[in-house]
Amino acid sequence: MKDQAERLRQIIDGLKLHQAASQINMLNSESAQNKSARVIAVTSGKGGVGKTNVTINLAIALSELGKRVIILDADFGLANVDVLFGITPKFTLVDVIYNRKSLFEVLADGPRNIKFISGGSGVEDLVKLESTHRERFIENIGLLDKLADIILIDTGAGLSENVMSFVMAADEILLVTTPEPTSITDAYVLIKMVSKRDKDKVIKVVINRAENANEANDILNKLCVVAEKFLALKLNPLGYILQDEAVPRAVKLQQPFSLSFPKSQASKHIMDISRKLVDSKGNRLQSEDTGIRNFVKRFFNSITM
Ligand SMILES: Nc1ncnc2c1ncn2[C@@H]1O[C@H](COP(=O)(O)OP(=O)(O)OP(=O)(O)O)[C@@H](O)[C@H]1O
Ligand SMILES: [Mg+2]
Repeated sequence: MKDQAERLRQIIDGLKLHQAASQINMLNSESAQNKSARVIAVTSGKGGVGKTNVTINLAIALSELGKRVIILDADFGLANVDVLFGITPKFTLVDVIYNRKSLFEVLADGPRNIKFISGGSGVEDLVKLESTHRERFIENIGLLDKLADIILIDTGAGLSENVMSFVMAADEILLVTTPEPTSITDAYVLIKMVSKRDKDKVIKVVINRAENANEANDILNKLCVVAEKFLALKLNPLGYILQDEAVPRAVKLQQPFSLSFPKSQASKHIMDISRKLVDSKGNRLQSEDTGIRNFVKRFFNSITM
């Protein structure tokens, strides 16, 4: 019995070593050198418009295009990426913040090679983190730049200071809105808040739950014209997703719709959006300013100002 337990432990240790070795190989691979990830904040003015569904299905579409994607669930306290993946991670970002776990230990495995990190109640802890420990956190989280090509951050609904700090610190902003007037009004308020902080930001926009292509394109056009005219801000319309029963059905199954219903309209549209996203340029011109390390540095700067 004792021998068997010992043997089992050796096997598990071996597996851990194997895993660590493959992760180290990933870090040393040529493509991982001197490179940082595109950090994209998925946000909205109003809540419940489809951010989390867009985030996880976009991650799958991007992964199908050959990108390494990591999702950071920054909807603190109300984490829902794990709910939609049907996976409960053992640890959260808070464990990295307090140096209890390594980044590798909090990275949970999602479908199709996607990894995700649950934010836990992290934002409060991040804000409280002493400056000596901030450096260590930046170093730890900086590993994500080597492990991912694209980091998608699912933020809480916008318009609060904390969410704005995340949104402004990201390399790119992806704003989700539905055609409902309340959702569009709040999206416009968010666009205005961004323009006040940085008028050179380009905001990418996705219309979710549109009735048809005409309705979606009409809203995209109007938003672009209004933002340019009144705020002198450029929007980048990325596309739309129609109202589709496949979405709530997949949510009930706790699976991404693009995996449960790959032939659905919503899956086709998310694929179109992912292609446009890959083709589109990032917001920051200097590559040394991009990536998760710089994102966290900007976040810390904005909360201590
Ligand atoms: N294209 C769509 N077609 C039909 N229903 C949709 C679509 N997109 C989203 N929904 C519905 O809206 C619900 C909310 O979506 P989701 O959780 O992604 O929104 P959210 O913006 O992340 O919300 P929160 O602000 O609470 O985090 C889904 O559970 C689903 O029922
Ligand atoms: Mg959500």
